[in-house]
Amino acid sequence: MMKIAVLVSGSGSNLQALIDANLSGQIVGVICNKPEAYALERAQNAGIQTAIIEHKQYPNREAFDDVMHQQLCDWNVDLVVLAGFMRILSAKFVKAWEGKMINIHPSLLPHYKGMHTHQRVLNTGDVFHGCTVHYVTAELDGGQALAQGVLKVAQNEHVETLAKRVHVLEHVIYPQVVEWICTQTIQHTEHGVMYRDQPMTEPVQFCKF
Ligand code: GRF
Repeated sequence: MMKIAVLVSGSGSNLQALIDANLSGQIVGVICNKPEAYALERAQNAGIQTAIIEHKQYPNREAFDDVMHQQLCDWNVDLVVLAGFMRILSAKFVKAWEGKMINIHPSLLPHYKGMHTHQRVLNTGDVFHGCTVHYVTAELDGGQALAQGVLKVAQNEHVETLAKRVHVLEHVIYPQVVEWICTQTIQHTEHGVMYRDQPMTEPVQFCKF
């Protein structure tokens, strides 16, 4: 059974969706860099071990990442799932977990990397918006996309409603991708990413119009 660690910084609604999904893998631990994060309560309610590793207590990014790396190794983790983890990871850490670490980003990557995606989509007047699950590489929000949830932006849509609707989609696609990795439906191989034993050329799309 695949051992999964989830890294969080905030509310943890994606963590909750993963807990509720009854995955084929086991969430063996949750790492959080913020002691006040509600995500910690969600993990504890589900009987999952937690580790609070506060970035502020370390002199630099590498030192913080080394402690996280050690914790992940102690838990024998196979898959690292970033779920609202608000720290940029060092190149060394990313390299160590390459092909074993995924993230969810609230935009249709490669569009709108970085922050404030919903507002930027509204400012541009895009018709479609959504979220992307992708492997993590050294390039911010730049690794291969595995799945996207797509929705249509409503006329005069408010940023909060849009954010909420994207969040709901996240809770659908993230557990699905994690399950696909647990069941080896998605595999990261030396020849690239495979989906159902075929090279994955584009992300699986989930549409909600
Ligand atoms: C989500 O919007 C996700 O796309 C982004 O961080 C947020 C996490 O939300 N990476 P939550 O903590 O899972 O509720």
